[in-house]
Amino acid sequence: MTTNASFLCESCGYRSPKWMGFCPQCGSSTPLTETAPTRARVSSPPLVVGIDTAATTTSQRVVTGWGEVDRVLGGGLVPGSAILLGGEPGVGKSTLLLQLAGGLAARGERVLMATAEESVDQVALRATRLGVTAPGIDLIAVDDVDVVVEAAERSRPTLLVVDSIQAVGVGEIPSAPGGVSQVRESAARLIRLAKTTGVSLVLVGHVTKEGGLAGPKVLEHMVDVVLYLEGDPDRGFRVLRSNKNRFGATHVSGMFDMGSAGLSEVEDPSKLFLEGWESEVAGTVVYPAIEGRRCVLVEIQALVAPTTQTQPRRSIRGLDPARVNQVVAVLHRHAGLPLHDAEIYVNVVGGWRLDEPGCDLAVALTLASSALNLPMGRLAVWGEVGLAGEVRSIPMEARRVEELDRMGLQRRIAPGGGEPMRLAEALIRAGLG
Ligand code: TYD
Ligand code: MG
Repeated sequence: MTTNASFLCESCGYRSPKWMGFCPQCGSSTPLTETAPTRARVSSPPLVVGIDTAATTTSQRVVTGWGEVDRVLGGGLVPGSAILLGGEPGVGKSTLLLQLAGGLAARGERVLMATAEESVDQVALRATRLGVTAPGIDLIAVDDVDVVVEAAERSRPTLLVVDSIQAVGVGEIPSAPGGVSQVRESAARLIRLAKTTGVSLVLVGHVTKEGGLAGPKVLEHMVDVVLYLEGDPDRGFRVLRSNKNRFGATHVSGMFDMGSAGLSEVEDPSKLFLEGWESEVAGTVVYPAIEGRRCVLVEIQALVAPTTQTQPRRSIRGLDPARVNQVVAVLHRHAGLPLHDAEIYVNVVGGWRLDEPGCDLAVALTLASSALNLPMGRLAVWGEVGLAGEVRSIPMEARRVEELDRMGLQRRIAPGGGEPMRLAEALIRAGLG
């Protein structure tokens, strides 16, 4: 397959058939660079394989020994798979991978860590601090992808880590590492190595707050698994989430706590969240979220502050801003609570992200609780808020109730199975009416 478009924007990957002095897609003022017509580069070896034998490869997973990571991967590392680990700088990607390498090494597996961002000494020092001392981890500090490929071909480790894909490059491409063509070609060569040798590959990709166009985004379609490590800037919580997984379920989360000895697994997130929960202040409530197949009790916080600004600030973390805005509008229209002239902050504690509309009612009640400065106490809330001010029941209620029972949270507000509840009624039941 060839494409005719042969001019490329190095910052966003836009392609054009003709040269331009700027990028019409991302607005970058760097001129497009000429590239040779490309062939689809990640070509699998032309082997015909019986479907029955092919299926056994994915079942031979290598267990890392890190339960949260194995769960997010769908049961361990699949040989020959390519994994992209994205996350903001400093979130803990290198730390997680070093500890993961330690887990594998302790189980007798070999790991090759190619580090282009840190020196071998720096990595070794951190390994000592983290107690990663088992033999079986090899380090190579180099930014030339072909050197990494050669080293991995020779040593055939179980896992090859490349930290980071933005810091490595290939000699034939003149542009500096980090640009789209370098990132793509480097990844293509490493993925080809993984597919032909059965070495599992993890590529580290930095994401910037703006979304990091030249980084991991351009690789998502090339790899088998896309993981993101996200964190709560205020606390040590880290969430590892699968956004894509050819060998398992997506939107499975693993949870970690960053401490002085690196990351530790959080096996009972509900317990951890509830321990730090100050339920006696206004603007907080618990929502029983469904993550993958399990239920996790997460705290939703809101702060509503009056302002004279004509465009009051709205800061929303861990939730879909459009849904929060809708809840704000419904509160105004159907519960008589105008918030349009107030600053609004809504936050899911712990760096957790909620994609379910089922948390609408929890958002509505925390907003009202903060606006009225009335605490709700130890209360759990769920339900989807509709435009007409009705609150509907949501799926997997039994699973949520079970988790609330386990954690001893008996006060709950949620619509029953049949008739939807009115938002105004929910406010009254929460002591906010
Ligand atoms: P790092 O893994 O280098 O992040 P990334 O590779 O994603 O850029 O993690 C760096 C941060 O983690 C740094 O702010 C310090 C913190 N940290 C700890 O709190 N405890 C530890 O034991 C380690 C190794 C790092
Ligand atoms: Mg790093």
